[in-house]
Amino acid sequence: MTDGNNKAGTFPCRICGGTVREWFDFGPQPISNAFTSADDPAALVRYDLVVGLCDGCTMVQQREECAREEMFRPDYPYRASGSALMCKYFEEVAEHLVSTELTGPDPFLVEIGSNDGVMLRTVRSAGIRHLGVDPSRDAAEVAAAEGVRVRVDFFEESTAASIRADEGAADVIFSANTISHISYIDSILRGVATLLAPRGVFVFEDRYLGDIVERSCFDQLYDEHFYLFAARSVQAMLARFGLELVDVEHRDVHGGTVRYTVALAGARTPTPAVATMLERERRQGLAEFATYEAFATRIDTIRDELVALLTRLHDEGKRVVGYGATSKSATVTNYCGIGPELVPFVCDSTAAKQGRLAPGSGIPVRPQEVFSDPYPAYALLFAWNHADEIMTKEHTFAERGGRWIQYVPTVHIS
Ligand code: SAH
Ligand code: TMP
Ligand code: ZN
Repeated sequence: MTDGNNKAGTFPCRICGGTVREWFDFGPQPISNAFTSADDPAALVRYDLVVGLCDGCTMVQQREECAREEMFRPDYPYRASGSALMCKYFEEVAEHLVSTELTGPDPFLVEIGSNDGVMLRTVRSAGIRHLGVDPSRDAAEVAAAEGVRVRVDFFEESTAASIRADEGAADVIFSANTISHISYIDSILRGVATLLAPRGVFVFEDRYLGDIVERSCFDQLYDEHFYLFAARSVQAMLARFGLELVDVEHRDVHGGTVRYTVALAGARTPTPAVATMLERERRQGLAEFATYEAFATRIDTIRDELVALLTRLHDEGKRVVGYGATSKSATVTNYCGIGPELVPFVCDSTAAKQGRLAPGSGIPVRPQEVFSDPYPAYALLFAWNHADEIMTKEHTFAERGGRWIQYVPTVHIS
C-alpha cells in the first residue's frame, strides 16, 4: 500500500486558473453512490481521487471529475429523508426562509438538488410558489408524490435562464449538499446571478473545510465532494460572478456544515459573522499548504490503525458489521482496502441500497433489521454523523455488550 502523500503534482484551478498543489492522492476510487448488482458495469467505473489547494483563491478541489450522468443517475439511491434529524433540520430551514425572505407578494423559491423533497415539502405546505431542480428521477418522484414541483434536470446556466423566462426571478435560491458536488460551478453561479431577483438571496450549505481538517474527516472526500468550501474561498469565488457573501452560519449537521447567504454584489450589507469566520480560518491556517501536509499524515495514521484493528478482530474471530452505507464509506473502504472478509455486510435503512453491493469494496448492503439478528460483537459506524440518532435507536446493542468502532477524529471504540 502506498502513502497518499503527494507533494509533486499541480493542476489548474477551476475557479481562478491559479495553481492547485496536490496534497493527497487516494488512488482509484469508485462512484460513491454506485450501489450495484454484481454484473452492473457501473461497478467497474474508477477515477483518481486527487485533492489539492489553490495557491491563488485557496479553493480546495479535486483534480479529476466523474461524468455527472454517471454520478446522478435516474436511480441515484440517496434519500435525504433517511434521517429523522435531517428531516427536522430542513423543516426548520424552510420555516425560517418562509418567514424571513418569502413574505412579499407571490414569492418564488427555487431549490437546486431537492432530492426527495425533504426541504420543499414544508415550502409547499406553506403555499409558497416553488420549483425543485434535480436530475435524480426516482428521488424526484418521491417529492412529487407529496405535491412538490420538481423539474428532473441538471441546474446550470441554461436551466436558470429557462426558469427565469417561464416563471420569473427567484426570491430565494436554496441548495444543500449539492453546490460543492458540481465541478462546472461557473455555470451554476452564472445561472444563480441570472435567476435571482434584485433583492433575492442565494442560500447554500455544504460540509465545512474547517471541520474536515480539524476533525480529520478524510471520508468527506469522495467524488461528490468535488470542492471543499470555506468562507475565504467561497467569498473569492462569488466575487468573480457579481455575487457577494453576506452571511455565514455554522451548523453541526453532517459533521460540520456552513450555510452561506449570498446576494447580488452591493445589494445587502455583510454581517459581522463573515469577518469573524474569515479571521478564524486565518488562525486555523486553512490557506496554508502545511496544514494539509499535516492532515495527510493523520489520514494515513487512521488508515493504518483501522486496518490493524479490523484485522486483529477478524483474527480473534470477532464479528464486525458496518452500520450506514454512506457515500463517505466508499473512501474509507477503498482507501483502506476493507472488503467483505473484514466487514461481511453493512446495514442501511435505505431501500434503494439494500440487496446491492457497496461501490468498490463489494460489501453487501442489508436492511437495518438484520443488525440484531444476531448482534455482532462490533459495529463499524460509517454513518458517524448520525451517531446520536443511530445509537439511541440501537441502544440494545450496547446494553448487550456490543461496541461501536469509529475512526474520526481518531480510531476509537465506545
Ligand atoms: N439537498 C439534499 C440532497 C443532497 S444529495 C440534502 O441536503 O440532503 C445531492 C443532490 O443533488 C442529488 O439529489 C443530486 O441528484 C442533485 N444534483 C446533482 N447535480 C445537480 C445539478 N446540477 N442540479 C440540480 N441537482 C443536482
Ligand atoms: P449520510 O451520512 O450521507 O446522510 O448517509 C447516511 C446513511 O445512513 C444513509 O444511507 C441512511 C443510513 N442510515 C441508517 O441506515 N439508519 C439510520 O438510523 C440513519 C440516521 C441513517
Ligand atoms: Zn483558484
